[in-house]
Amino acid sequence: MKMKFLVVLAALITLSLAASIRDEPSFCHGLDCPKYTVTRKIDDYEERQYEPSKWVGTTITSDSYSQATEEGFKKLFDYIEGANKDGIKIPMASPVAVKIVPLPQGQSNYTVLFFVPFAYQSNTSIPTDPTLSIASLPALTAYVGQFGGYMSDKVEQEETTKLKNAMTKYGVQFVQQYSFAAGYDPPFRVIGRHNEVWLIGA
Ligand SMILES: *[C@@H]1O[C@H](CO)[C@@H](O)[C@H](O)[C@H]1NC(C)=O
Ligand SMILES: *[C@@H]1O[C@H](CO)[C@@H](O)[C@H](O)[C@H]1NC(C)=O
Repeated sequence: MKMKFLVVLAALITLSLAASIRDEPSFCHGLDCPKYTVTRKIDDYEERQYEPSKWVGTTITSDSYSQATEEGFKKLFDYIEGANKDGIKIPMASPVAVKIVPLPQGQSNYTVLFFVPFAYQSNTSIPTDPTLSIASLPALTAYVGQFGGYMSDKVEQEETTKLKNAMTKYGVQFVQQYSFAAGYDPPFRVIGRHNEVWLIGA
């Protein structure tokens, strides 16, 4: 019992050390998450410069953010649990991001994305499910709104609209065709939840 406690304690100290060396945001809770620097504050929003990053994703066409995210999450979870060409378990990283491309008639293409842990970024195992693929994001500028609580279709839409209106008001040039939403917490984390919406600098 005591031994177990010490092992857990050592693991936690290692994680927090690793996090502090990288100066990782606290909302990543010690999991690998994409590296960025904040270059500007605009109202309540952040302008971030992201380094290039690797993700595994799947696109779902739906009229519901929540439904698409749930469906995509299941497939991606199978992938990290071993549904990949190397049959390896890949540690969970953060966040789960969703690229949202609105389509005519109220539907959207939701590409649900798991961030690939740093140790696997240069050698990302190929998914066995043909509907999954590896996605490389280039270095980019993101305009980011941050909020707590649980994400829903309504919250996602409201927060994205607020962000778009603010960026338009401040004359920021951003890509109009799509946006991102990102969740950093498992469903069972009730307090201190962290979510984001991103627009990409044009
Ligand atoms: C939406 O997704 C479908 C299926 O993945 C794809 O064929 C289509 O080109 C996508 N549309 C847009 C606008 O991205
Ligand atoms: C990539 O990782 C897999 C699983 O860890 C390993 O089997 C494979 O040899 C690696 N390939 C390269 C090119 O490093």
